Amino acid sequence: MRQRIVDPRPLSDEDERFNLTRRPRTLDEMIGLSHQLEPLRIALTAAMERDEPLEHALLDGPPGLGKTTIAHAIANEMGAKLVQSSGPALTKTGDLMGILTSLGNRDVLLIDEIHRMPVAVEEFIYPAMEERKVQFVVDRGAFAKTIEVPLKGFTLIGATTKAGLLSKPLRERFSIFHHVEFYKPEHLNAIVLRSAKLLEVPIDDAAAAEIARRSRGTPRITNNYLKRVRDFAQVKGDGRVTLDVATKALDMLGVDKAGLDELDRRFLRAIADFYDGGPVGIETLAATLNEDRGTLEDVVEPYLLRIGLLNRTSKGRCATRRSYEHLGLEIPQSAQRGLFV
Ligand SMILES: Nc1ncnc2c1ncn2[C@@H]1O[C@H](COP(=O)(O)OP(=O)(O)O)[C@@H](O)[C@H]1O
Ligand SMILES: [Mg+2]
Repeated sequence: MRQRIVDPRPLSDEDERFNLTRRPRTLDEMIGLSHQLEPLRIALTAAMERDEPLEHALLDGPPGLGKTTIAHAIANEMGAKLVQSSGPALTKTGDLMGILTSLGNRDVLLIDEIHRMPVAVEEFIYPAMEERKVQFVVDRGAFAKTIEVPLKGFTLIGATTKAGLLSKPLRERFSIFHHVEFYKPEHLNAIVLRSAKLLEVPIDDAAAAEIARRSRGTPRITNNYLKRVRDFAQVKGDGRVTLDVATKALDMLGVDKAGLDELDRRFLRAIADFYDGGPVGIETLAATLNEDRGTLEDVVEPYLLRIGLLNRTSKGRCATRRSYEHLGLEIPQSAQRGLFV
């Protein structure tokens, strides 16, 4: 699959490592979240004062908004270690057994994409969460024995982009819930300035604002842009990120003023132009664009819906008045009536 600069998911392991070293290390260092993180902050402080582990927490929301960063910050503040795994990587109960028994008091186990954990592994994790023990069966038939292994007071942090797919019993075993939200431009602006400082890139305020405006509400995208803009400034300019440099670099990358890239625009054009404004089904669009349906649903539609460039109805996807304006297209007669604002 072609890599998009506006993809809010990690680009590569290398990229994750790069980000990791520059992540905010405490909850208070996380920009723009002091209000939202207050319940989590209080739960964490209370647990620390009682010298107990934090209760199990579920972080949910779109990719790139800080779930992994929050988990690391919690472990840091607890003075504990964080072990990271993911739902699809935990294929056998044995894998999880090894991880769980290696955890010490107050250590954090982060399971990313926890909604994709196999059923057998999920059932194995219930007693680990509830009673902090695991059970496994040795031998077979008449000699079969269940052995119980006690675990230390660890905290499970589940992260998911699809909270709706979590089974009820799993969800019920969490006691702290935090939903990550898209960021406001002023907070993304502060994130650009913070990252620029860490990367030691000189940047103008107007350039930071431009990068923030095109970042789709997502800090990971902000950081992706900044790296590419920095390269552009170095090669085409004197290293300083000015508004002119930022604009040219982002235009070159195919990111427009609203933060849309070529795939977003092709998607909108297909609905607005090819299918006369819709409604058109997602399967049809995927076939028309020769793209994977999951990619369209997970990383194209959410942002377009959020900024009012797309409307989703029971009959299918529809263009909005704003989609035509954004694409610079005339609204066809057939789509005039009933067009979403
Ligand atoms: N509040 C924030 N302040 C500063 N940087 C942030 C903030 N939230 C996220 N980031 C940055 O955005 C990037 C993506 O965050 P991450 O925690 O990996 O998102 P997720 O796990 O939700 O996909 C990281 O590089 C992180 O440093
Ligand atoms: Mg993550």
